[in-house]
Amino acid sequence: MLLDEITHTMATCRQFRPDPVDDETLLTVLDAGRWAPQGGNRQPVHFVVVRDPYKKAKLGEWYLAPWRAYMAERMGTTSTNSDQRHQRSSLAEADNFAAHFGEAPVIVVVCAELAGVHPTDTNLDRLSVVGGGSIYPAVQNVLLKAREIGLGAALTTLLCEAEPQVRELIGLPEGFITAAHIPMGWPLLPFPKQLKRRPLSRTTHLDNFGSPMVSDAGR
Ligand SMILES: Cc1cc2nc3c(=O)[nH]c(=O)nc-3n(C[C@H](O)[C@H](O)[C@H](O)COP(=O)(O)O)c2cc1C
Repeated sequence: MLLDEITHTMATCRQFRPDPVDDETLLTVLDAGRWAPQGGNRQPVHFVVVRDPYKKAKLGEWYLAPWRAYMAERMGTTSTNSDQRHQRSSLAEADNFAAHFGEAPVIVVVCAELAGVHPTDTNLDRLSVVGGGSIYPAVQNVLLKAREIGLGAALTTLLCEAEPQVRELIGLPEGFITAAHIPMGWPLLPFPKQLKRRPLSRTTHLDNFGSPMVSDAGR
């Protein structure tokens, strides 16, 4: 597959076939993660592969509370335009996923060693995001590789709220944090032909924010 096809079709997969994902396949996917860039090449990312049905069920149980809170908030804010139907069907799909989160064939907990991230924006009077820059490129590499071989994956972060419980469940030492939970499995449904994304004309600016770099709305 060419990179464009992978990136344009790498949808969040929220329904999996029950078939197992063998170690070799999983390691091929996770191997892509270690080639990602990280600040200072400190390589803070670790993957905990959860296959144990009890542990997966616990993760699924804990996912529900933050999901329900998020769902309630989103239901109150969906727009009334033509996007509304799409938004509601996406939410319904994500709601069903939440109910079955712990049944995914495998759940990868993405962890990171705090001493290995170097956030450069903690002194600004706003939310710090730079630390994640040493973590999420590895996650993206994993998602890209999964898509290439046809494995479904759902990047989720809601469960990070439950980090204390998850820490105990997977034996995560102090000094390490959870950054994402990725249920994975062979997809029940085909990948979409193309994801829904804003055109570049709305998100790319030339010299000044607000001066579109391109006017072609199709791109
Ligand atoms: C940082 C991040 C956190 C996310 N967390 C969740 C999550 O907790 N639960 C979930 O169902 N989807 C989660 N998603 C998936 C997004 O909802 C999804 O990427 C978005 O709706 C676009 O859909 P698509 O990936 O199928 O194109 C997350 C995605 C990102 C990038």
